[in-house]
Amino acid sequence: MKKRRIAVLGSTGSIGMNTLRVITRHPGHFEVAALAACNSVRVLERQIRAYRPKYVAIAREHIAPLEKKFPAIRFFDAAGGLEALVAQKDIDVVVIAMTGAGALAPFLAAARAGKIIAPANKEALVMAGDILMGAVRRHGARVIPVDSEQSAIFQCLDGRPAEDLYKVHLTASGGALLDVPLSRHDRLSVRDVLAHPRWKMGAKITVDSATLMNKGFEVIEAQRLFGLVPRMIDVVIHPEAIIHSMVEFRDGSILAQLSVTDMRLPIQYALGYPARLPAPAGRLDFVRLGKLTFARPDVRAFPLLALAFEVSRAGGVLPAVLNAADEVAVSAFLQGRIKFTGIHRIVAATVSAHRGLPSCRKPDLKDIEQADAWARAKATEILERIR
Ligand SMILES: NC(=O)c1ccc[n+]([C@@H]2O[C@H](COP(=O)([O-])OP(=O)(O)OC[C@H]3O[C@@H](n4cnc5c(N)ncnc54)[C@H](OP(=O)(O)O)[C@@H]3O)[C@@H](O)[C@H]2O)c1
Repeated sequence: MKKRRIAVLGSTGSIGMNTLRVITRHPGHFEVAALAACNSVRVLERQIRAYRPKYVAIAREHIAPLEKKFPAIRFFDAAGGLEALVAQKDIDVVVIAMTGAGALAPFLAAARAGKIIAPANKEALVMAGDILMGAVRRHGARVIPVDSEQSAIFQCLDGRPAEDLYKVHLTASGGALLDVPLSRHDRLSVRDVLAHPRWKMGAKITVDSATLMNKGFEVIEAQRLFGLVPRMIDVVIHPEAIIHSMVEFRDGSILAQLSVTDMRLPIQYALGYPARLPAPAGRLDFVRLGKLTFARPDVRAFPLLALAFEVSRAGGVLPAVLNAADEVAVSAFLQGRIKFTGIHRIVAATVSAHRGLPSCRKPDLKDIEQADAWARAKATEILERIR
């Protein structure tokens, strides 16, 4: 395998750091070409010293002092400069490990530059998946997903034609609140919600796991990545988080991808695809595991999952509205400004308010950006009202 030069967007976060661990373990296969973060300048500086990348992006105010320390590096502004960074000729793989809607522009730029794209970020695909996947096809780029469920589907499909497929079973660990009764949801603290039993992740996705919004986003993400319609996707609660998703074919056969619960595995798979490199984490011991369990999601306690299915059926700009409203609501919850149940109230009210507006089935990027801005303003207005 030819050595791959990797750009890590969001290198200071949970996925970004796991990506750097994988790269460190395989110096013969991978090297860091670029690092990008937003504000974590100290961590980024340590990473620059360790990996000596050619390109770095960070918020504008941090660039000048870093340029003095590292004159050989070309710096980019993280707000607006990531498109130019990912298009550099000497980058092969772009790992999109940054949070939020800001990933949309660099994802599109990486697609237009024909790169291998390894997205952990799901927000960009939720907002504008059809546009992104269209650009990927037109420009000969490739998408190898990092999100563990999408990686599992990708591995199980293994290039088989869509007509062979019957259904995809997306597994969900259920997050921190799986066994917490609905009557307690109003009293949950940020700490309760961040205590995910299986995965150690950034704060936003951990809250989204607790509301099952994360699973709802994955329903939309899977549609965009694999060309599915909503009725071809089922969600099943699987608390052990050992099966990362399953694909059911029309003959009734089901293929599942199983492994220990560790993001380094899907990251390594995406970086090295199609090669299978030595295991980055532990191995499964079925006898110690004993059993794997499954349950139906409780959509009364976690209504955002049902809302995501509705939104995915409606399509158009509504997924972008859902995503933007959720970003506003989760951020307010993390700042202690609203209760946990306020997240659903804000997101549902924003989506509902948008349903009254004229909307197109095949939005372009401008329509999506406008819907995103509208939803942020509307969600903020609702947030102020319910506080
Ligand atoms: N964590 C997981 O296990 C997991 C699993 C599946 C999917 N995902 C998805 O992967 C993405 C990252 O999740 P995470 O848990 O790793 O998040 P995280 O720990 O909160 O890290 C977010 C990263 O994004 C960077 N960032 C934010 N805005 C940026 C910008 N404009 N330019 C450059 N960098 C920017 C942050 O930089 P600063 O540190 O400087 O702010 C940080 O490095 C999310 O979309 C999430 O849904 C995560």
